[in-house]
Amino acid sequence: MAKKRRWHCHPGQEPTEFDKKIMYWESKGKLVPTPDLIKTPEQIEGIRRAGVINTGVLDAVAAEIHAGMNTLEIDKICRSYCEEHDAIPACLNYEGFPMSVCTSINEVVCHGIPKEEDVLEEGDIINVDFTTIKDGYYADASRMFIIGKTTPEKEQLVRVAKECLEIGMEAAKPWGFVGDIGHAIKKHCKKYGYGIVKDLAGHGVGLKFHEEPEVDHDSYRGTGMLLVPGMVFTIEPMINMGTWRVFIDADDPYGWEVITEDEKPSAQWEHTLLMTEHGVEVLTY
Ligand code: MF3
Ligand code: CO
Ligand code: CO
Repeated sequence: MAKKRRWHCHPGQEPTEFDKKIMYWESKGKLVPTPDLIKTPEQIEGIRRAGVINTGVLDAVAAEIHAGMNTLEIDKICRSYCEEHDAIPACLNYEGFPMSVCTSINEVVCHGIPKEEDVLEEGDIINVDFTTIKDGYYADASRMFIIGKTTPEKEQLVRVAKECLEIGMEAAKPWGFVGDIGHAIKKHCKKYGYGIVKDLAGHGVGLKFHEEPEVDHDSYRGTGMLLVPGMVFTIEPMINMGTWRVFIDADDPYGWEVITEDEKPSAQWEHTLLMTEHGVEVLTY
């Protein structure tokens, strides 16, 4: 088990009101952020700059994505945009991931690997998930693209998945809890009978690719880590048309690609968010 670093004041220094609020919740047995999870203004500016490039990458993909294109071409677009902007694709060689971006088509939930054989067809829905490293800072976002015209069912899935992200963003309040996010998402998702993936979660981000806290998309109000201004994290709900259950595709030699158990389609949207005094600010618009 990992050692828990406790929130404590510096010797000889009075705790600020901010510190006291955190210490109060810790004394109530709540999970509270360690100091490294509360970003300094300088770190926030760094993550913001990574966010701008990350948005540029996804905009470049949006401008070129079309039926007949293969997902390796999407990888090339992302790679060259990064090169031109003096940035690094975080996914490349991350824990054995072989490409620069995740391209997840239809029943692929996430971590789809770009390949020449995967040619986009009319009616496909695809998630493109990119993470930028700029001057050591990370920003992570993903969008869905509908290739040409798709079915009303898939169109609704893509729309509701986006609404889940937006509703999760609204539910994230300073001095609230991470569980408030998944609670709100679950409520919205229930109306459609969709499955919310439980095996993968949003995450703290900024100084590393994946930091604490874990941001579950199916959760309970008041649970999880205390949300404090200065924290940076993602919300990235994966919404399945059928069952929430997923597995790793046995055909993927890298062991990365996640697929729905019933092979029905899945959709996901993701933003990197800064918690402020008022609510979240999107760093990846
Ligand atoms: N970008 C994904 C996330 O949202 C992580 C992808 S890891 C990779 O957390 F190795 F598959 F790229
Ligand atoms: Co991502
Ligand atoms: Co992420």
